[in-house]
Formats: sequence, structure tokens, C-alpha cells
Amino acid sequence: MRIDYDDLRKVLAALTAGEDDVVALMATVACEVHHRDDRFDWTGFYRVVAPELLKIGPYQGGHGCLVIPFARGVCGAAARTGAVQLVDDVEAFDGHIACASSTRSELVLPVWNMAGDLLGVFDIDSDQPAAFDADDAAALTAILAEVFAR
Ligand code: SME
Repeated sequence: MRIDYDDLRKVLAALTAGEDDVVALMATVACEVHHRDDRFDWTGFYRVVAPELLKIGPYQGGHGCLVIPFARGVCGAAARTGAVQLVDDVEAFDGHIACASSTRSELVLPVWNMAGDLLGVFDIDSDQPAAFDADDAAALTAILAEVFAR
């Protein structure tokens, strides 16, 4: 089962219309994305809760680490740099945080609101190596902007 990003975009637009609560939006996105693709084994958000600090937000999958400083992990790198992190092999990523030993590859995208404040990061982990590509990154970047930059 492969995700259909056009369908995801339409469903999320309908589900989140008029909603501006960030946790409600994150929960809805995590759920809608996670169940649409066999590659996705953990799908969720880490929220900026203090300077240089991420804490777990809404997610689907096994339990995630609760706290991630900006200095650590793939999520920290996305938060620190504001750049999408597409990691084909987590073993080769210096400082990767192994919440689940089964994770082989990851895609982490920064999430901003309309004012340009960093709300957190959206993290998708796969048990398959090199599960994600630039098309996933581009489609999800556009969808996150539609949902959160409102
Ligand atoms: N692997 C991530 C940590 C989050 S979890 O895997 C749920 C990282 O290195 O940022």
C-alpha cells in the first residue's frame, strides 16, 4: 500500500478546516499519514517546548523517546537547521537516536506556523532501508505548510 498524496491533501483539508489547535492538527496528520503506507512504521511529531528542546507530540506506532534536544538525532538536526532530513541508513547518521531498534531509515521535516515560528518536526520512521525519496519529502513539505501555516 502506497500513499496517495493528492488524496491525503484533500482529506486533511476537509478534516482540519477551521481548526487552529496545533495538537489537534498534529494528531490528525499523524493518524492520516501513518495508516496510508506500509513503509511507515512510526509516524509523529516532536514539539518545540523550550529553546533548543523537543518533546514528544501526537504519534502512531510504538512508544517514542520523550525528549530530544536540538543537538541530538535526526529530529534535532531538522529542528536545528530547518532543513528536511532524508536518512537512507540511520546507522550511518552520526547521533541518531534509536527509539526502536527496528528503524532503518527516516524522513524528518520541520513544521512552521504562518508567522514562521518553528512548531516542531514531523518524523516518519521505516523498518525498511532507504524507504523515502525526494517525492515524499516534497509532497509532505507542501501538505505540512497547508495544514500548519494557517
Ligand atoms: N530516530 C529519531 C528519534 C525519534 S524516534 O525514532 C521516534 C532521531 O534520531 O531523531
